[in-house]
Amino acid sequence: MPNENTISRRGLFMKVGILFNGLVATALAVPIVRFLLSNPYVTPTDGKTADTACWVRRIEGDQFQVFAVNCAHLGCPVRWFPQSGLFMCPCHGGAYYRDGSRASGPPERGLFEYPHTVQDGLVTIQAGELPTPGSPSASLFGKKPPCAG
Ligand code: FES
Repeated sequence: MPNENTISRRGLFMKVGILFNGLVATALAVPIVRFLLSNPYVTPTDGKTADTACWVRRIEGDQFQVFAVNCAHLGCPVRWFPQSGLFMCPCHGGAYYRDGSRASGPPERGLFEYPHTVQDGLVTIQAGELPTPGSPSASLFGKKPPCAG
């Protein structure tokens, strides 16, 4: 005869199920909450460039390189991995060296660069238009991309 301190098998499985579902819901909620709380680093002087993501690399002093974040293959956003010293594309495994040149993978060329100027320590980036291999703006610095006709 069950007393008030015993728990039925059904009750035990119900409590274990609720606990397990709670753990799974918590594990799924963590990345969603982190995404919602994260903000890109934007300053008031960023202007329109705050709307366009780019990678800025300081070569030395006032020499910079400004890369479009989009992979030269099909446009997925590349990320910088300091451990390997490479920009990596998550879509098809494209990789680029720190100077934007192609390291490996399906991209036929290096990362696209945005024109920029440096004046009084302020980097002004002409961003917004993403060049494609066939467009005239792909040769922003007078160099033709290797895949352009
Ligand atoms: S889009 Fe980057 S490798 Fe395909």
